[in-house]
Amino acid sequence: MAKTTRDRLTYLRRRALARWLYRRPLSQLSPERLYLWSQALIETADVPGAVVEIGCASGGTSAHCDQLLRNIGVRKRYVAIDTFNGFVPEQFDHDAERGTPEAVRHGFAASSHGLVRQILRQLGAPDVELIRADIVTMAPEALPPEISAVLVDVDLSQPVHAALRKVWPLMAPGGMVLVDDCDPHTKFRARDGFQRFCADFALPEEYAYGMGVLRRDPAQVSGTHAFA
Ligand SMILES: C[S@@+](CC[C@H](N)C(=O)[O-])C[C@H]1O[C@@H](n2cnc3c(N)ncnc32)[C@H](O)[C@@H]1O
Repeated sequence: MAKTTRDRLTYLRRRALARWLYRRPLSQLSPERLYLWSQALIETADVPGAVVEIGCASGGTSAHCDQLLRNIGVRKRYVAIDTFNGFVPEQFDHDAERGTPEAVRHGFAASSHGLVRQILRQLGAPDVELIRADIVTMAPEALPPEISAVLVDVDLSQPVHAALRKVWPLMAPGGMVLVDDCDPHTKFRARDGFQRFCADFALPEEYAYGMGVLRRDPAQVSGTHAFA
C-alpha cells in the first residue's frame, strides 16, 4: 500500500514518539480474543514447533505473548509476519467490492519494519522474529518448518485463505490456529477466507468469540500431516 501524505505524517510522529507511545504492549485484539490466543499458547506449550502471528501491526500482541511464553518457561520461536505497510491494494479492492468500507483502506499503512523492531526492543521482546512479506506471495519455505500455534490476523479474505493454506501443512499434531475477525457482523471479510479454507479441506467450521478455530488432530502420527 503506497503511503499517503497523512500516513507519512502519522508514521513520522509515531517514529519520533515511539518511546512514549509504546511503553506498554498495545494489542489490537479485543480482550476476549487476546485471552483465547493466550490460552491457545498455554494449551500448546508442549506441542513442538514455532509460534507464528500473521499480521502483527505494531507488535503489541507479539510482545505480550512472547513474554507469556517466557513466563511459563516455554522456549519457542515467536515469528511475526507483516507487510509493515498495511493492506495490499488488490487484496483490499477484492473485499471493498464485497462491502468492506473504503474508510479502513489505510488502517495500518503508517508503520515500518524498523519501527516495529524498535517497539519490540523497548517492550523487552527483542527475540520476536520479524518477517516483512505479503503472506499471499511469501514463499512457504520462509515459514518455520514446524508450527505449534498460529494467529492469523490480516483482516481480508484473500490473505486469510493464503495464510491458512501455507501454515496448515506445517502444523504439528495438537497444534492450533486462530483467525481473527470471523464474526459475521464485522466490516472485514476474514470469515470468507476462513470458510473457503474449511471447505477446501472439509474441515468443520468452529468459532469462539468471533475467531475461527482450527485444531490439528493430536492423535495424528508425526510426519503424516503434510498435505497442501
Ligand atoms: C489487525 S492488524 C494486526 C493486529 C495484531 N495482530 C495485534 O493483535 O496487535 C492487521 C495487520 O495485517 C497486516 N496485513 C494485511 N494484509 C497482509 C498481507 N497480505 N500480508 C501480511 N500482512 C498483512 C497489516 O499490515 C496489519 O498490520
